[in-house]
Amino acid sequence: MTEGTALPLYLKGRFAPVPEEHSAFDLTVRGTLPPELDGRYLRNGPNPLPGEDDGHWFTGPGMLHGIRLREGRAEWYRNRWIRTREREGHPFVREDGTFDLTATPGNTHVIRHADTVLALCEAGFPYRVTPALETVGPYDFGGRLTTAMTAHPKEDPVTGELHLFGTGFAPPYLTYHRVTAEGELVDSRPIEVPGPTMTHDFAITGHHIVWMDLPVVFRPGPAGRGGMPYQWDDGYGARHLPSTEAGPEQWLERSTLRDWVWEALEELSPALRLQLVLRHFTTHVTSYERIAAAYGIPVGTVRSRLTQGRTKLAAALAGTADTAHGDTARRTLDSRTQARETLAAAESGHFGALLTERWSPEVALFRGGDRVGGRDLLVRAMDGDIAAGVRQRLVQAIAGRSLAVWEMDIVNPADDPGHCPPAVAWLMTLDATGRVHRLRLFHPQPLRALELLPAL
Ligand SMILES: [Fe+2]
Repeated sequence: MTEGTALPLYLKGRFAPVPEEHSAFDLTVRGTLPPELDGRYLRNGPNPLPGEDDGHWFTGPGMLHGIRLREGRAEWYRNRWIRTREREGHPFVREDGTFDLTATPGNTHVIRHADTVLALCEAGFPYRVTPALETVGPYDFGGRLTTAMTAHPKEDPVTGELHLFGTGFAPPYLTYHRVTAEGELVDSRPIEVPGPTMTHDFAITGHHIVWMDLPVVFRPGPAGRGGMPYQWDDGYGARHLPSTEAGPEQWLERSTLRDWVWEALEELSPALRLQLVLRHFTTHVTSYERIAAAYGIPVGTVRSRLTQGRTKLAAALAGTADTAHGDTARRTLDSRTQARETLAAAESGHFGALLTERWSPEVALFRGGDRVGGRDLLVRAMDGDIAAGVRQRLVQAIAGRSLAVWEMDIVNPADDPGHCPPAVAWLMTLDATGRVHRLRLFHPQPLRALELLPAL
């Protein structure tokens, strides 16, 4: 590679790509290699082909470097490009807009699991290589891996299992996978997130798997080389994702307790009930300030209301400990489905029809403590937002017998990113037949977004 000042930093000096493949044997050892060091040390990284500039530090076909140590000797050194389909010229995005998960640079990391050596790149499938670093081909765990695979899987030191995830540019945006110590992919589960983000890494603990869903969002820029198709999006927010969890016993215990708590909550007055639910069950409406703003009550009264609510809840819990508990899990699932159907109806221009069919004809829209309108205002507001290109994405739905909360992220049109605040919570109370009869729309972030509500 010629050294030229016009070359970008990642192509020159000590960062310059290695232009050739080498194999060297019985290497000279200066000093002493501890005989306990027995195995291969491998590393991977982008290594553009001679004369090529892939436009970024992170791009370019992967090259593996390896050194084999045994009994105090350095048996060999090799470096090999990974022969991926991208290196052969196949595009990652096919002409029909689908993705070729085998057409990646394979340039990010290299691991060994169950005696299989895999070169990894988070955009697609891993590439299997031989112990001598020759490319075997793309590896999808016998057809069981149907998403991309992270470059940072985690091996459980106790069980030997490999935990990993895949991100996608289309739903499901995040999928969890588990591979046994023997190398069999046995579990795949979609994890719900609002959009495609740069989920580069994750963590495992003894009992949990933790992702941080952060606001670096997939946004392809104009065509051209070298751009990273991710941008910071203040509106996306940040969240810890619920872990995939251990055995069924915990689930059972948790859902039984939850049903009991929900039954006890129903014993409280509507105002106390909803405030306790916001404080302890929602994602974004938990602070005193936000609860006060959502209900149009002085912030100084929230603490005493919550204290009063908790005292009554404790009594209600004691009073309902021996009675049968309703199926809260089912209610929440149903509510989640209803939320999705409501959004789908809105997007297809049928929000009004859905309200007529499912909601109370007396439905009232409240702002703080004031009634600001009814069904017609709701339909006008929703239809107007849809026409303006605003979309809502369900983050969480929770529901009891007499209330439901839908937390939504808001996706604004690209040409009007400030049209709506980034999130909204639908706080609903239900009548005796389960129909929505009161709705508060609360924008949890930022608080000044409340000023936008009168424009509904
Ligand atoms: Fe990394």
